[in-house]
Parts: sequence; C-alpha cells; structure tokens
Amino acid sequence: MAKQTTTPLTVTNPRYRQAFHIMTPGGWLNDPNGVCYFKGYYHVFYQFNPYSAEWGPMHWGHVRSKDLLHWEQLPIALTPGDPEDTGGCFSGSAIVKDDRLYLIYTGHHYYRADDLDHFWENQNVAYSDDGIHFTKAEANPVIEAPADNTQDFRDPKVWEHNGKYYLVVGGSQTKGHLGRLLFYESTDLLHWQFRGPIGQASASQDEGFMWECPDTFRLNGADVTLFSPMGMQNRGHAFLNENPASYFVGHLDYQTATYRTDEPFHSADSGHNFYATQTFLAPDGRRIMWAWMSPFAEKMAEQADGWAGCLTMPRELTLKNGRLCQAPIQEFTALRQKKDLASELTLNSTAQTLALKDAQHSEVILKGLTGVPLIWQLADEQGSLITLTYQNGELTLAARDKDLRYAACPRLTALHFFVDTSSVEIFVNDGETTFTERFYTTGSVYQTLQSKQAATIQATGFTLGLA
Ligand code: FRU
Repeated sequence: MAKQTTTPLTVTNPRYRQAFHIMTPGGWLNDPNGVCYFKGYYHVFYQFNPYSAEWGPMHWGHVRSKDLLHWEQLPIALTPGDPEDTGGCFSGSAIVKDDRLYLIYTGHHYYRADDLDHFWENQNVAYSDDGIHFTKAEANPVIEAPADNTQDFRDPKVWEHNGKYYLVVGGSQTKGHLGRLLFYESTDLLHWQFRGPIGQASASQDEGFMWECPDTFRLNGADVTLFSPMGMQNRGHAFLNENPASYFVGHLDYQTATYRTDEPFHSADSGHNFYATQTFLAPDGRRIMWAWMSPFAEKMAEQADGWAGCLTMPRELTLKNGRLCQAPIQEFTALRQKKDLASELTLNSTAQTLALKDAQHSEVILKGLTGVPLIWQLADEQGSLITLTYQNGELTLAARDKDLRYAACPRLTALHFFVDTSSVEIFVNDGETTFTERFYTTGSVYQTLQSKQAATIQATGFTLGLA
C-alpha cells in the first residue's frame, strides 16, 4: 500500500469533544500503544487513521505529558508504507534502553490492496533519542510468524526482566483457530528467540479465536496478563461484550517458559466500551493502564464531526485477593475546579438531583452505602442516558440504545463517577469493578440518586476542568 498523501481530517464540530481524555486532533483512534515514561515525559501513542473518522491505514498518533493530565499532540510517530509495514503500523509497545526509546510494533501487509481479509504480519522496531522523531530499524522485521500460525500475529508487548528483554505476541492463532500468547526473549531488542506459547484458549470453554493486545506484568507478587479476546462466549452476566477485555493471574516461569494460572479469566471492565488495554510502570512504581473506549455494537456519533474514539482515563492497578483493582490516578484531583457537593444525603424513593454546577464534567464520590439498594442516573431532556442500579447483590447498567450490563457486587460500599462530555467511568468499591461507557447528548444533563430504602450516605461532588 502506498504512503497516504491526502489531507489530515480536522474536527468540524466540538459538541462531543472530551475535556480530559486523550483523543485525536481529527481522524480515527483505537488502541493505546507504546505507553511509557521517557526523558521527563509520559508518552502515549495510539492507533490512528489521520485521513478518516473510520478505521483505515494505521499510523501511530502520539501525545506526551508531564503530569498525565495535559497532553500535547506531537507529529505522527509511525507512518505505514515502508517494506516492513506496507499496509499498516499496528499495535505495539515501548521500552527505554540506554537512553533511547524503542517502539516494537506490528507490520501489517496485504497481499492485494483490494482484499483486506488476506494479510500477513510481522514485528518491527523503531527508535528515537528525542522521543519525537522515530527511525525504523535496519534489522526489520525483527520477528516473523512461526510456521504453525495463521495470518494473525500481532500486538507485541515488551518488558525487561533480570537484564533481559521479553515480549508476548497475542493476536496470534493456532492453525486450529484458537487464540494464544507467544513468548520471546532478547538481549538487544533486535534479535529475538522464540521461547514457545505461554497461553492458549481452550476450545471447550470457548475462550476466543484471537487474544488481541496482551500485556503481561508483575503486580503485587503475581504475574497478570491483560488481553482482549475475540469470539469469547459470555458466562451468564459476565463477558457480554462481543470482544470483552479480560485478564488472568498466575506465575510465569522464565526458565521453562511456562505460565501457571489457577483460575478462570476475569472481566477487566463491566461496561460496553472498554478494549485493548495497555499498561506501563511509572517511575514511582505505579502500574498505570489505559484502554480504548471501543464501540463494537454502536456507532460513534462524533464520526460526523471529523473524529472518532478516545482512551479511558489512566488508571492505577493493584491486585487484591487475586482480583485486579483499578483506581483513578491521584493526579486527577488536580482537575477539581469547584467543590459543589459535600454533604450527607438522605435518600428515598424520589430521585434527587445532585447539586452539581456542571454534571457533564464532574466527579462524584458516594460513600457509606452499606449495601442499600440504589439508583444513580445521568439524564438529559429525553430521559436516562445511563442508569446504574444496585439491588440483590448485583449492579445493572442500562445505557440508552444499548443492551444491559451487569456486575456481581455482594456488598456495595462506595461509588466513584467521572463524567466527561461523552463518557462516564464508574469505579465500584475502590475499583474492584469498573463500568466504562460512551454516551451522546447535546442537551443539558443532570445526575440523580434514589433508593427504595431510606438511607443516609456521604456524597462529594466536583466540577472538573483542566486549568
Ligand atoms: C485491536 C486491534 C489490534 C491491532 C489494531 C489494528 O483493536 O485489532 O489487534 O493491532 O487493533 O488497528
């Protein structure tokens, strides 16, 4: 595929533009890529089609920040069209070695420009000394697919362990069409030795025909792998999304290249719009994650306005009792412009409107819930946009024009909401469960609370904005 020469798209209407989430300056976004810290800046790259609000030839868009809040758009980091990436620069990751920033990404190649269903994929390296301009390595491609793989072979996530480099490739498939993780080792990031598969979907449990965007990392004494399976079956009220981001916890043995996991997969988020997670280790030791607020069944209304998609807020990960907990990073307290609400609220069956100055750019923290049934709602003139109901040990999320989503919650104690112009992120019980949702409205919005059972709770609320 030839290099694109058309004009980049720009935003024609700001109505759905987010205030504090990473977006493109115009054009399509999907996965977060190459998240890292390099020479005083946090860097986030993203799958980017600058020329259309639809998915297309994949570039790496690039933003950087000193505080994880204010993001500066930088020139496109990777443009497809070189021999190693003729049809696209697909997802990948970043690592810093000897003061140089390395990106390891998938080169996507079509056999014929008019047939997007048949392709091959390989892994490539690009590097930069200033964190802005990237050079593709002479040695590319650095990894080719093993012989027993199908055409899908992508999304390398690299890390360092005891002085060596390792990576997992997901988006890989056995000839029997089962998703799997392939494990590689290197001493210099350019020469890679295949150590074998370290995870594979079990056919009987329908664990997916593809595991996209894997990310393996050490957290609180265990090895966690986040990944995004395609074609996984729902289990009751869990994994209802067509492609549900998931994780498993276990122990990776680097000597034998085996990954022992005792438990089944867990869902990484219970909302409709969460996929393709990627994490990095911040200099202060926090494991921070972004995901793409992906639509699978829905249209993104902003496509009419010259852009599409955004990332989640960065979230800090911890492992508690074998489960991943996600917390809004503490930097977000700096977005609080005004405290609108700090009170005890007595709830009853009448919906009370929360006294927020700007309910569409707000943070609301509810505490002392003691397991009472509860209904939180974000609404506009036409009625509910998003309703979260807690009763009988389960949370149910109803979103306008979407099917229901659920999460088990034996005892609800706290809820934390971040509402931006066209998204809400909900952290349940300090991040034991999260719901991530896009929504679209051009009317004014408000938030309400009610309970079938009289209860007094603590509510804090802020208007958010970037100073
Ligand atoms: C996940 C994904 C990746 C791939 C990229 C292409 O959303 O399909 O597997 O690298 O998007 O844009």
